[in-house]
Parts: sequence; C-alpha cells; structure tokens
Amino acid sequence: PDNLRELSKKIKVYIGSAVDVATLADDAGYRRTLNREFTHVTGENAMKWSEVEPQRGQFTWEGADAVVRNAQRNDQKVRGHTLVWHNQLPEWLTAGVADGSIGAPELRRILRDHIFKEVGRYRGKIRAWDVVNEVVDDDGKMRDTIWLQKLGPGYIADAFRWAHEADPHAKLYINDYNLEWNAAKIDQTLNIVKDLKAKRVPIHGIGFQGHLGIQYDYPGDFPSVMKRFTDLGLEAAITEADVRMVLPVTPEKLATQADYYKRMLQTCVDNRRCVEFTVWGFTDAHSWVPGWFDGEGAATIMDENLVPKPAYGALLSVR
Ligand code: XIL
Repeated sequence: PDNLRELSKKIKVYIGSAVDVATLADDAGYRRTLNREFTHVTGENAMKWSEVEPQRGQFTWEGADAVVRNAQRNDQKVRGHTLVWHNQLPEWLTAGVADGSIGAPELRRILRDHIFKEVGRYRGKIRAWDVVNEVVDDDGKMRDTIWLQKLGPGYIADAFRWAHEADPHAKLYINDYNLEWNAAKIDQTLNIVKDLKAKRVPIHGIGFQGHLGIQYDYPGDFPSVMKRFTDLGLEAAITEADVRMVLPVTPEKLATQADYYKRMLQTCVDNRRCVEFTVWGFTDAHSWVPGWFDGEGAATIMDENLVPKPAYGALLSVR
C-alpha cells in the first residue's frame, strides 16, 4: 500500500484521525492529507459538550457539522466523541451543579436532552459513539464526577439506552485511557461491561485510547487485554493512538515510536473484532501532547511539515 487509505482497505480496519476543525477550515495541506490518508475521523473537540452548547440552550453545531460534512464528502466514517465526560463540560452546567441551582432530577433531564439532541442530530451519520469517556479512575474505582455524585452509577446505563434510542444503528462504546495495561482499570471496566450486558443495556464496543509514551515499556499484554473484552462479544477500537517522547527527538526515539505504533495497529489487525485504529492527530503541528505533557512532544506519525516519520512507514508495513 502507498498510503494509509490503501492499507485500510487491505487490512479491513478503518484507519482514522482526530480532526482539528479550525485547521481543517484554514489549512489546505492539512485537509488534503487528512482526506487522502484516512477512512475514519473523530472531532478532536468539536462534539464535546462545551463546544456544542457553550451557553444553556444556545447550540453551536458548526464545528461538528463541518467534521461530518467533510467526512461524507471524502468517504470517511465518523466516531462521535463524546457524550458523557467529566472534562470540557460547559461552565453553565458545572457552575449550576456546584451552586445547587441545578439539582439531581434536573441534571438527569439535562443529560438526557443532551444525548437525544446530539445523537439525534447526526443520526445515521456516525458509525460509533463514545457514549461514556474515562468513567473509571486509575485506581479501579468509579471516577468521582458530577455524574456519579448526583445521578449515581446508573447514569452509565441510562446514557447508553438514550443514545441507542436516538440512533439505533450507531455502535455504542465505553472509552478509556491506560486500559491497554492498568489491571485495576481493566477489571473494573470489564465489570461495568458485564453488568450492562446482564441488564441488556445496548453497549457494543470497547475503546482503547492508546496514549503511549516511549519512556514507558510497551504494554505487551495489550492483545490479551483486548481479547478479554472482545470475548464478551464487544467490538474493539483503538480510538486516540499517539506515542509521545521526551524531547529532543532523536533517530533512536523515532525508531522506538515507530515500533510502538506498529504493535498497536498489529494488535487491532490480529483481533477479528477490532475494526478501527484512530490516531489522535496525524501531524506534530497539531497535537495535544506538547500542551499537556511538560517537555514531551513529537507524538504523531508526521512531522510539522506533514513529512511522514518512521512511524508512518511502520504502519504501512502491517499485514
Ligand atoms: C484533548 C484534545 O486533544 C485537546 O485539544 C483538548 O484541549 C483536551 O482534550 N482523552 C480524550 C480526548 O478522550 O478528548 C482528549 O482530547 C485527550 C485525552
């Protein structure tokens, strides 16, 4: 294969990227590369609650619409990201909960309305939704969020049921980071999935974010971890892959990074229920890593000038 789109057809795994909507609009090189290389896209921020309803009742769908429109024109599937999360919530919502002006019954209605509105707007246009994101903490306990505090653990089942009602054909995912290796998080997430399945809640997929760093050992158990989830009948996706490094960049670090990317994609290819491998940005010019991890960067498969790095070639070599 000469590019990732050709590879995607060959290995029968969607290959996606997160998309930054401002850059999509302004930068033709970015747009061309995205549309040439990828068969799947995720709005990096565009579908998050703070982006789509910054003021209560005032909806700003332009960014999300642009991601979906561009995908449809370029034969790309879309991952909706994300419906229920503790981050990037609008200020009116968090402040209202904090000062008590939004009580539990109202909060539940607000969440229900949010899910019906957003999922309904894109009904038939989203292959898969990250319904809940990062609901388990690194210690294996349920993450302490406004959702858990005010609505109790049943908010998860509610969210999946509402999303399914709003778009019965979308695949509904639970998504998390460190799930490639963190035993406590893995066990708790498996328990959540089993519990939802026992209650006949419509959950279809497990999302592994795949944020790795070469200063840590590669998570060698990832294939068996993925299998524990797919053995429950779930499909799987690697939803936000990137491989950061402590700067400066060296040829050795780029080689290690390439190996980590390749092993992640291979893990997906080797599991017949893994259907999607999405990178969290495809160029170092637009990556969340430098802004979030002090002294780290160069986490994507192309450099700032859209020149492929060794990781890109390593992905193309996957069979
Ligand atoms: C990140 C975005 O990349 C940043 O632009 C934003 O400032 C913060 O969120 N896990 C997720 C993603 O599920 O939504 C996060 O995206 C990265 C970690």
